[in-house]
Amino acid sequence: MSRFNEILTYRIISHFISQSFAIMASDMERLKDAHILSKEGKRILLWIKIQDHPISFLQIRNLFERIFQLEVVYGRIDGIYIVTNRGYSPSSYSFSRLYENRTVNLYLVTASKLVKFGEENSKPIELIAGDQNNKTYIGIFTCKGGVGKTTIAAHFAATLACHSRKVALLDLDPEQNLSKVTKKRLHVEAKKGEKLSIPVFNHQNIKPLEDGDYDVVVCDFSPALERNLKSVVEKLNYVLMPTTLNPLGLNSGGKVIKNSIDEIRTINKECRIFSFINGYQEDKTKRGAMLKEIYVNSLQNIASDDEKFEFVKPQDVCVRYSVLLYYWGMSMYDDTPSTVVFRSSSSCYPKEDYFALCEYIQRSSMLRM
Ligand SMILES: Nc1ncnc2c1ncn2[C@@H]1O[C@H](COP(=O)(O)OP(=O)(O)OP(=O)(O)O)[C@@H](O)[C@H]1O
Ligand SMILES: [Mg+2]
Repeated sequence: MSRFNEILTYRIISHFISQSFAIMASDMERLKDAHILSKEGKRILLWIKIQDHPISFLQIRNLFERIFQLEVVYGRIDGIYIVTNRGYSPSSYSFSRLYENRTVNLYLVTASKLVKFGEENSKPIELIAGDQNNKTYIGIFTCKGGVGKTTIAAHFAATLACHSRKVALLDLDPEQNLSKVTKKRLHVEAKKGEKLSIPVFNHQNIKPLEDGDYDVVVCDFSPALERNLKSVVEKLNYVLMPTTLNPLGLNSGGKVIKNSIDEIRTINKECRIFSFINGYQEDKTKRGAMLKEIYVNSLQNIASDDEKFEFVKPQDVCVRYSVLLYYWGMSMYDDTPSTVVFRSSSSCYPKEDYFALCEYIQRSSMLRM
């Protein structure tokens, strides 16, 4: 996908998210450019076709043929939205008005506007990236203390910065650990020889952050949800929920994660929540296998009740235990500026893990990086 198409696709999807749609999947295998969204229990197919000619009759016919295959995987599709940049051929237009009693909504997109096809005089929907409403808020939260939230906030933000995102950190924890370690700026070598620093904003004054030109805001949470700013919890688009793979970390079959999700859901019902394992240590014994099984089984149950919750299996991606991460934060005790434990040009465990985590979340959420 070209950078232009990618940005346009991101803006279109962001618009749907702002209208309270949740993304269930982006299924390129069954139908290229298909995204399955859900809202109030209904499933919507969003098909974004950025191309150099109008949508043809054959493309619409192919789309309708594939809907059946998508329904086998995702369940009944209740509505269809098609968004394209060059319009619709006359036969594709007349053929696509209705599909088996389901409304088909046709849209035309330009670089920054979305309009209903055939109603070009109606008020266009503005698709503007980078303004206040278009920031992506990612919270790092679990109600258990000491599982790595602050460390993850810093290293995930740095990973996004390495992917050329304009990132800010927000320290919501009254303990201010992130602010103390970073001394308000986290330094990152994003590309060889290219140093940048990520600002760390304070929960007591978030106006400069809201006014700033950032794509992504990574928020470090206090484990006591009520100690964090409610207005930020409401804004969250994504939550990363770390857990440790040990008996107390999982606590009676995922109870810690279940409670953490329930707490977030009292304030924000829409955000996508991803849980994953931090501080993972390979354990080939029976005990290790048993803990993995508990993690997968209990979280599978939670995922079946909450379609916006997903857990990352340790064999896919996890953040491994690393001595570098364990000693991160020494800048609190000396005068050195704080950096993350990896450089863009070097290779180490934490870097591999954070890059893999970032890619995993991007793939399943369409978060642009
Ligand atoms: N993957 C890892 N490998 C090794 N040590 C880690 C890893 N992740 C975090 N740590 C260490 O675990 C400790 C707790 O981490 P951190 O302070 O980030 O947790 P927290 O969840 O923010 O805690 P709190 O709830 O107190 O805010 C720190 O000493 C940190 O260095
Ligand atoms: Mg912390």
